[in-house]
Amino acid sequence: MSEKATLTWGNGRAAEFPVLKGSVGPDVIDIRTLYSETGMFTYDPGYTSTGSTKSAITYIDGDQGILLYRGYPIEELAVQCDFLEVAYLIKHGELPNQAQYDDWVMRVKRHTMVHEQLARFFQGFRRDAHPMASLVGVVGALSAFYHDSLDINDPEHRVIAAIRLIAKLPTIVAMAYKYNMGQPFMYPRNELSYTANFMHMMFATPCEKYEPNPVLVRALDRILILHADHEQNASTSTVRLAGSSGANPFACIAAGIACLWGPAHGGANEAALAMLERIGDVSKIPDFIARVKDKNSGVKLMGFGHRVYKHYDPRAKLMRETCYEVLAELGLANDRLFKLAMALEKIALEDDYFVSRKLYPNVDFYSGIVQRALGIPTNLFTGIFALARTVGWIAQWNEMISDPEQKIGRPRQLYTGATRRDVVPMGKRA
Ligand code: CMC
Repeated sequence: MSEKATLTWGNGRAAEFPVLKGSVGPDVIDIRTLYSETGMFTYDPGYTSTGSTKSAITYIDGDQGILLYRGYPIEELAVQCDFLEVAYLIKHGELPNQAQYDDWVMRVKRHTMVHEQLARFFQGFRRDAHPMASLVGVVGALSAFYHDSLDINDPEHRVIAAIRLIAKLPTIVAMAYKYNMGQPFMYPRNELSYTANFMHMMFATPCEKYEPNPVLVRALDRILILHADHEQNASTSTVRLAGSSGANPFACIAAGIACLWGPAHGGANEAALAMLERIGDVSKIPDFIARVKDKNSGVKLMGFGHRVYKHYDPRAKLMRETCYEVLAELGLANDRLFKLAMALEKIALEDDYFVSRKLYPNVDFYSGIVQRALGIPTNLFTGIFALARTVGWIAQWNEMISDPEQKIGRPRQLYTGATRRDVVPMGKRA
């Protein structure tokens, strides 16, 4: 017999709810009939105890520090696969064989260019526009150009929209950067790998030959792999919620980008680097830590803590390794901010404030240092994150559309406002 959870309340009233079991991880109580059976809703701001969907894409065990894409540990994928291989896995559920991989890479590469008119969108932005502001607008605008992939009920349209998004995001992110720099946009070079092509569109100019450094390409590829998906985080939930109304995939991904921009989510690597710059020197760490512990200061140790990981973020370990490799390759082994980050990490990991709250470094603690070494400006970090996460967003969106249990997302509330009252004419109001 299937397991049930019993809720009792009031004067001996009780209702039973089915307990659902996943393939791994905590069971969930299926409360879909809660309101009809009890007349009550649940209250869970921030959804800390609420499962919004079934999903077979990513699994996280925050206590153990485990992250699996489609069952494969991130540590194996990051070392053995490239980003497009991982993207195929996340989207299709299985790793590709050679023929499937070649076909997938070819299909993605055929879509790397954007409509010429889309390039003109950028002229409408100020030169100093934050790249995330441009990305929200330009990615949303894709829906004005690709009408042949907007029918969310047509599986072929969904495939083309997914490929377009994965293929065009590097082009659009690089355009946002070039526009800020006042340099010409570079067309994609499809003979290069996905990540090498992105570096070409970022760093090449029409004046000089540019060959991406393979060590740096590999580092950026790893950043993309580590950020490709992360279960039902804020931006992914935003994409799903936007998509639950039937909105087209380009609009939904634009919504995800908007959510990712916040400093508590994708903006954290930018904020972590800015924090290191502000601290400036190892001697200032104790003073900074004291301010973090002071609840009235509003100061947080950026790049530390995670809603789900209550142990070392497995992505942070891999990113730390990449940090060493990149700095060694570029002759920056004594990088000031990296040394500062290491000292800060050591002190925080020994401090009872952080230990007792299970606050460990997350991926963003190191990814900013790597990206800075690669020559990526700070304000583009979140754009790189968006590029990578587009794979997860579109796979999660597609999973939602294909799910027969999918409904429009519509949370309820605990109303605390005024009860019913009558409008008093203006002249009689206090
Ligand atoms: N620095 C100082 N104190 C912290 C921090 C931090 N970075 N993170 C959490 N705390 C404290 C918090 O003040 C609270 O203390 P108390 O119990 O005394 O009130 C306790 O730890 C629990 O924190 P919380 O705010 O309830 O935790 P949360 O799950 O709501 O927040 C978080 C998670 C990531 C928003 C938060 O840890 C944070 O703001 N970290 C800094 C920003 C950051 O690095 N974000 C990147 C997340 S990883 C990238 C991604 O996956 O998107």
